Parts: sequence; C-alpha cells; structure tokens
Amino acid sequence: MVYMSESTRNLHASPAIVSREDREKLLGQSGSVLWFTGMSGSGKSTLARQVEAELIGCGRLAYVLDGDIVRRGLCSDLGFSEEDRSENIRRVSELAAILADVGIIVLSAFISPFRSDRAQARDRIGSARFIEIFVDAPLEVCESRDPKGLYRKARSGEIKSFTGIDSSFEPPEAAGLHLKTDRQSIAECVAEVLGALKNYSV
Ligand code: ADX
Repeated sequence: MVYMSESTRNLHASPAIVSREDREKLLGQSGSVLWFTGMSGSGKSTLARQVEAELIGCGRLAYVLDGDIVRRGLCSDLGFSEEDRSENIRRVSELAAILADVGIIVLSAFISPFRSDRAQARDRIGSARFIEIFVDAPLEVCESRDPKGLYRKARSGEIKSFTGIDSSFEPPEAAGLHLKTDRQSIAECVAEVLGALKNYSV
C-alpha cells in the first residue's frame, strides 16, 4: 500500500530503461529480504552477519541492515515509542525494498516488535521476495545474555519502553522460519536460513 499524501500525489516518475530483471541477470541472483525479528539479545544480528558472510563467500551480494546502525543515521530522529518503532520499520522496509530491487539479498535485523509493521514490510517488499525469520529465545535467556547491558538498565528503570520488559513483542504467527537460538547452534540456524533462501528465489 503506497501512502498518497498531498505532497506525493503530484509526483511522476520517469519510465525506467533498465529493469530489475536486467540487474538480477547482471548479478546472477534474485533480490530478496530475509527479515529477522526477535527481542534484543535473541541473536538477530549475529545470525544476519553470519549469513551475510556465507553468502558473500559463495559469490552472492548480501547486505545487513541492523537497528543499532540504522538508528544512528537514517532513523536517528526516532526513539522507542510505538509510533517511532513503526516509523523506523516503515523507513527500513522502504530501504530494504529498494535494495532488493537492486538485486541484493537484504538481511534486516530489527526487533520489529509489532505484527502490523512486519505485515506492512511484507506488503511493501512483496511476499515472493520476503522471508520472515523469527529469532526466538525466551526473555530469561535474552536477559541473561544481555550483550549490551540494556536489560540491566531497563530493569533498573534507566531505560524506558524496553522490549520484553515494559514494551511488548508480538511473536510472528506464521513465520517462514522459526529459529530457537536457546536450543540451536549458530551453525544450525545459519544452515536453516540458507536452506530457506534456496527454496525461495536464489
Ligand atoms: S525496533 O523496535 O524499532 O525494531 P530496533 O531493532 O531498530 O528496534 O533497535 C533495537 C536496538 O536499539 C536494540 O538492539 C538495542 O541495542 C537498542 N535499544 C535502545 N533502547 C531500546 C529500547 N527501549 N527497546 C529496545 N531496544 C532498544
């Protein structure tokens, strides 16, 4: 669904000469988006980075979009209210859609806690090119990992609206892939992601 505001109604894009198919032929791959969703500390970034390295290693152009990086630039004006998280995911979806249109395999690693935002990302990108990957670990496990020390700060009240503590995470109901990082090794998870990608478009 494309939002038509007063300012977008009078825009007219010039017709493209080069198509996505042309770019995909050039790259020898199909653009797609692997959308990692899960709580902080669940392992999204770790897995996305590993999958990126595997794909690059076998000659595929892949690129990680990560919350902790995007929020320093493109989304540096946003916080962690529900509205700001939705806007964060809307912008990232647009960026992921553009990169997938270039022909890149995009690995997006954002908490993306709300189902409706993930559904909009899927709609924007197109379900044929979008795999939702639930990076699942119980809150206690994420909290015990606490790689950035943020759960500790959230528990002490230093950080407000922290996912899993005082802000909700809506688990996917029908993710393309459901990884349980408290029970599966990183290597197992990476293998599952690569397998799922093969079954889709690459
Ligand atoms: S999302 O909810 O809008 O999808 P996003 O993935 O971009 O979040 O950013 C999450 C990262 O921001 C976390 O990995 C963590 O490092 C940091 N962070 C800082 N404050 C919060 C908070 N209140 N809730 C969750 N993550 C936070």
